[in-house]
Amino acid sequence: EHDQNGVLRMLMFGKPGAGKGTLSARLVEKYEILSLSTGDLLRQHIAERTEVGRQAEELVAQGGLLPDEVMLKVVTSKLDSLYNKHWILDGFPRTLGQGELLDAHLKKKHMPLTLVVNLDVPDDVILSRISDRWVHLRSGRVYNMSYNRPKVEGYDDVTGEPLTKRPDDNPETFSRRLAQFYSSTSPLLAYYASSSTYIPHPHQHPHQLSFHRSRHRLKLRTLSGSTSDENWPQLDKLIRTSFPNLHERAATRE
Ligand code: AP5
Repeated sequence: EHDQNGVLRMLMFGKPGAGKGTLSARLVEKYEILSLSTGDLLRQHIAERTEVGRQAEELVAQGGLLPDEVMLKVVTSKLDSLYNKHWILDGFPRTLGQGELLDAHLKKKHMPLTLVVNLDVPDDVILSRISDRWVHLRSGRVYNMSYNRPKVEGYDDVTGEPLTKRPDDNPETFSRRLAQFYSSTSPLLAYYASSSTYIPHPHQHPHQLSFHRSRHRLKLRTLSGSTSDENWPQLDKLIRTSFPNLHERAATRE
């Protein structure tokens, strides 16, 4: 059995606009972690007019969800090369079906999830943020005109390229995405809450229970907060104490 202790394989879970992308980007900036956002991947597919992109364009603009099997392929084509690396998944899984597909896939690859972070932000806070959001399409970098403004209004800090509004960030589509979250995505929380304690194994002898349990340790943590910068210190502390062998990136020069 491989020693997988201490490898961060994390889900960033939360409503649309909860801050998943923003907090993932901060972790990636500070630690040697890779992050995969299915929303960013789909927006790139759409921009490049791939087959997945053509399938995604209308659905995403309307706030709908792509089929589970399509999403699994989009994700695993990237994840499979990350064995023994620390990573964050943002925006996947989004349905119980996706959660089960992902678990089965990761089990086969001997890289089970080790952390689920649930960002709990009130709906009214999120709604007011969305109208202020601007994105840099190619990198997925996110800005907010009242929280994290770009250095030059309308342009990406790193590349200097123009920022755009997402077509699904209007109030009407956004409320559909929020409704979709409650109906399809939120049931995953109970799913992870149960697998973070104990999942019965069909062929298991009673005396093996605790052994089985210790090999499948999955942490589930909820971070609550609605004001700017409340979540980041909590998240940073959780990551540092749970994964002490994560390396910080060398300081980058200005
Ligand atoms: P996706 O891009 O994943 O959209 P989402 O889940 O709706 O998440 P967002 O990107 O809207 O929000 P976020 O939580 O990352 O928040 P952010 O950091 O930007 O998916 C888009 C679409 O693709 C889906 O609707 C679906 O159609 C499709 N899709 C994707 N994955 C799929 C899947 N698995 N299956 C099927 N279909 C799928 O923050 C939001 C704003 O708030 C920003 O402006 C930010 O600057 C600001 N902000 C963040 N934190 C704070 C703070 N602490 N205080 C103040 N402002 C803050």
